[in-house]
Amino acid sequence: MTTEITITRPDDWHLHVRDGAALQAVVPHTAAQFGRAIIMPNLKPPVTTAAQALAYRDRIRAAVPAGMNFEPLMTLYLTDNLPADEIARARDAGVVACKLYPAGATTNSDAGVTDLRKTYKTLEAMQRAGLLLLVHGEVTSPDIDLFDREAVFIEQQLIPLRRDFPELKIVFEHITTREAAQYVRDADRFTGATVTAHHLLYNRNAIFTGGIRPHYYCLPVLKRETHRLALVEAATGGNPRFFLGTDSAPHPAHLKEHASGCAGCYTAHAALELYAEAFDAAGALDKLEGFASFHGADFYGLPRNSGTVTLRRESWNAPEQFAFGDAQLKPLRGGEPLLWRLA
Ligand code: DOR
Ligand code: ZN
Repeated sequence: MTTEITITRPDDWHLHVRDGAALQAVVPHTAAQFGRAIIMPNLKPPVTTAAQALAYRDRIRAAVPAGMNFEPLMTLYLTDNLPADEIARARDAGVVACKLYPAGATTNSDAGVTDLRKTYKTLEAMQRAGLLLLVHGEVTSPDIDLFDREAVFIEQQLIPLRRDFPELKIVFEHITTREAAQYVRDADRFTGATVTAHHLLYNRNAIFTGGIRPHYYCLPVLKRETHRLALVEAATGGNPRFFLGTDSAPHPAHLKEHASGCAGCYTAHAALELYAEAFDAAGALDKLEGFASFHGADFYGLPRNSGTVTLRRESWNAPEQFAFGDAQLKPLRGGEPLLWRLA
């Protein structure tokens, strides 16, 4: 039995760090594990200009503990009227991507896109400039069952988008279904996908075991076991189109344990440990390094990290909660045993 693995320092290709005191609380967790992270722009108000992205990057860098090397990679929030000429400024500022939130799909998506046609000039500019499009792939129509929203998005939105922008690099973020895994596997080299640790480890039963469990609620919501198995197969199969993106999404505990609880699982405190557990359960620890450290960098056209991290097979309990500004943050699996530990 493998008791220790050392991999090239990994990156997190999908992360929420919020702002202010919340940001101060969570950035050290990610910086301890990852070399870089793609920072989601769904602040209130959203990050929609190159100047805002640069200022946000400075605030994140200032929260990195001394002695840790961590680089935030910035994104802009696509809206119906993000001007096409902001794209060149964004590229010059080092922004690497824009995030598409269909309006109303998830946390802070009110300013999101109501009709993809309205963004076509901006998408053309992105395709020219080499910025990636990161997609929250769910339709928002109330007529569509919540559990079907990702599969329907592929048919209604993603296939036409792919056809109209054949050379735009698209990352289908936090995929949750067999349909999404198949779509990405069969697509061309301009399409990739991130997979979270929680979607590899849990199916939708986790939300309802012994009562409603809000800390397992995220969007896209956990799906049934057949989908989880398809995601495990995709992530552990060595295919370079699939890479690590935690979607770690911190919310104050009292707003998750609420009549209308917020969507988002916090996993940054033990992200690699959770992925190692999922890969180990699949007998695929040897595939973790590609997924965590190589595929994302290659897809983005960025250099791979130097340096390594080591994980040991060791049972330990993560804290039940962390201070989060004036509130508390309850991490996934907090207070319960984790099977791997970052050395
Ligand atoms: O569960 C989620 N939380 N899904 C998202 O798409 C957004 C995120 C957040 O910002 O809290
Ligand atoms: Zn997210």
